[in-house]
Amino acid sequence: MTRPVLIDADPGCDDALAILLALEHPDLEVVGISTVHGNAPVDETTENARAILELLERTDVPVARGADRPLLVDLETAEHIHGESGIEGDLPTPGPETRPVDAHAAQFIVEQAREHAGDLVLAGIGPLTNVALAHALEPDLPALLADVVVMGGAGFGQGNVTPLAEANVHSDPHAAARVVDACEPTIAGLDVTREATLAPDRLDGLTRASPLGRSIHAWLTYYDDDRLERYGIESAALHDALVVAAIADPTVLETDRYPATVGTESGVARGALVPDATGVTGDEPNVRLAVDADGDRFRDLLGGAIERRLEAATRTQR
Ligand code: BDR
Ligand code: CA
Repeated sequence: MTRPVLIDADPGCDDALAILLALEHPDLEVVGISTVHGNAPVDETTENARAILELLERTDVPVARGADRPLLVDLETAEHIHGESGIEGDLPTPGPETRPVDAHAAQFIVEQAREHAGDLVLAGIGPLTNVALAHALEPDLPALLADVVVMGGAGFGQGNVTPLAEANVHSDPHAAARVVDACEPTIAGLDVTREATLAPDRLDGLTRASPLGRSIHAWLTYYDDDRLERYGIESAALHDALVVAAIADPTVLETDRYPATVGTESGVARGALVPDATGVTGDEPNVRLAVDADGDRFRDLLGGAIERRLEAATRTQR
């Protein structure tokens, strides 16, 4: 039996690899992609999601455009990391087949959760604005979903926007706080997602001779040297793809349950997702937080998915 997955994303290089992995994994069925502001404004992330689907020859997957700004704070985007349009690569101009559905992403999430009641896994790999709005529309959303798996926060490590805050949570802390409070999410923070790397030279058959090969290469290498050095890693952290890998194979992440809160005030605590490791608050656990990742298993899953897609593309060109 396949697991239905809805990906709420702000593509984004690592979002693109997350989408590729989900589409290629035989146990997952992608019921749609909802888009949100984040790495770029939502017009661009929506265009990028559509272009990714076209490049991957999956224009059958519906796209729902979502929130163009956070719930309460000002919009901040990250073109300096993922490229001017929010993504690197050699992407096609999306055609009419991928035109977004009429529903807003939040409504689409609710509809899909009802249609796949109890089965759907929601992967939150951008700011959580759409997910928080979906919860406002349907307070039973957590019960309708099998799980909400989020790339967010820094775990027990350091942030990437401030020393405490990671980009997805920092971009919309109020939305993240709502999701943490209401949805009992599974969360992979930066301390484990920095294990999720895949150097392109490990892949057989990845050449830059086609738009697909060039795009995948660009997505795998989107970190500049400064960032590699800062985090002490040899190739880019593919944060969002780790979330999808963990949905496909739960052994990819080791998790523990913790009480956690999100800093919503401005200042140094903004966007900090803080797990209470010693139980000092006395609060009940409300998140399953990743404490370790199996990097080799991740590389097998993502590498295998990329190789399958490249082979399929070669077959259709023959
Ligand atoms: C997260 O922020 C975005 O830049 C990435 O796509 C990922 O979802 C990492 O902090
Ligand atoms: Ca993302």
